Amino acid sequence: MSTETPAGRRTVLRGAALAGTVGITGAGLAACGGKKDTADGPTKPVDLGSASAVPVGSAKLYREDRVLVSQPQQGRFKAFSAVCTHQGCVLDSVQGTTASCPCHGSQFDVETGKVVQGPAVAPLPAVDVTERGGKLTAGPGA
Ligand code: FES
Repeated sequence: MSTETPAGRRTVLRGAALAGTVGITGAGLAACGGKKDTADGPTKPVDLGSASAVPVGSAKLYREDRVLVSQPQQGRFKAFSAVCTHQGCVLDSVQGTTASCPCHGSQFDVETGKVVQGPAVAPLPAVDVTERGGKLTAGPGA
């Protein structure tokens, strides 16, 4: 009986350690999974309304649809995910050709998606965008 107690205790401790590791790993995967779900912007084509709402030489954020649309030249549109590539916050402002993240200050070029200022290092993923009859649609297959 006395020889089983230490072994039994070790088994319990090892089990607890494994359970802790699994718990942490599970939480990590859940967090990554949550970020992945939103990192690419819209998952299907979304109607963004009038194309005239996007200023020429700048951009407009559609935060609810997680998409950023710029119009570098009249009638030429580009779209990007509005989800920051740092830790997944949705960008919240555009000034000129720069869009900003409210969480840690990353900034992105609205015409290329490239990082202007970190901590983000990866560019915003491009999103398909089309203009038909003065209306914009953005998202996969748009
Ligand atoms: S999540 Fe955007 S800068 Fe950190």
